[in-house]
Amino acid sequence: MLNLAYSTDDDWAVRILPSLDEILLDHTHCEKKAASTALGLIFRYQHRREMMTSLSELAREELEHFELCLTLLDERGIVFQRQRPSAYASRLHVVVRDGEPQKLTDLLLIGALIEARSCERMRILSVALPEEKLRTFYKDLLASEARHHMLYVDLAATYAPRDEVMARLEVLAAHEAEVIRTEAPVARLHSAGPQKHTR
Ligand SMILES: [Fe+2]
Ligand SMILES: [Fe+2]
Repeated sequence: MLNLAYSTDDDWAVRILPSLDEILLDHTHCEKKAASTALGLIFRYQHRREMMTSLSELAREELEHFELCLTLLDERGIVFQRQRPSAYASRLHVVVRDGEPQKLTDLLLIGALIEARSCERMRILSVALPEEKLRTFYKDLLASEARHHMLYVDLAATYAPRDEVMARLEVLAAHEAEVIRTEAPVARLHSAGPQKHTR
């Protein structure tokens, strides 16, 4: 259950395929960012002891994914280097409410939605990519991302009643749907994907 308000169209994989190297590089950066998000929450909310262990485990797991991606890039001769990120994450955070505990709820739920979208896109890649090795690579990763989605939702529900959390998740999911649909047409894991070329 990914709680997404918009399903990526089947055509997305076809459109990103010519830019596969760019997607693999972006995915590597996303794993690094996912680790940094978990670590950022550890720093910001260190007084919330009950979140520390699961966030630390999450950061470690994301760093493992980062290392797997680095190896994949090396094998394919893709240089790990800076890359312009999509505006997806920063646009998602525009609606984070001020004041606690609302801010914490929103940060956790936006984390949950990013994990959910990663999972959805990886599931598409695990079916659509032409190379079996890459399909397996994504199949192995997407179960973790689904688990990370639920972890963030469950953490949010330790600080607010679950029905309130789920209602807020619905609102944020609608915002996420709008953001991903209107992202710049570039080849990124969290974008609408390049435009279809029409003659
Ligand atoms: Fe990951
Ligand atoms: Fe993740």
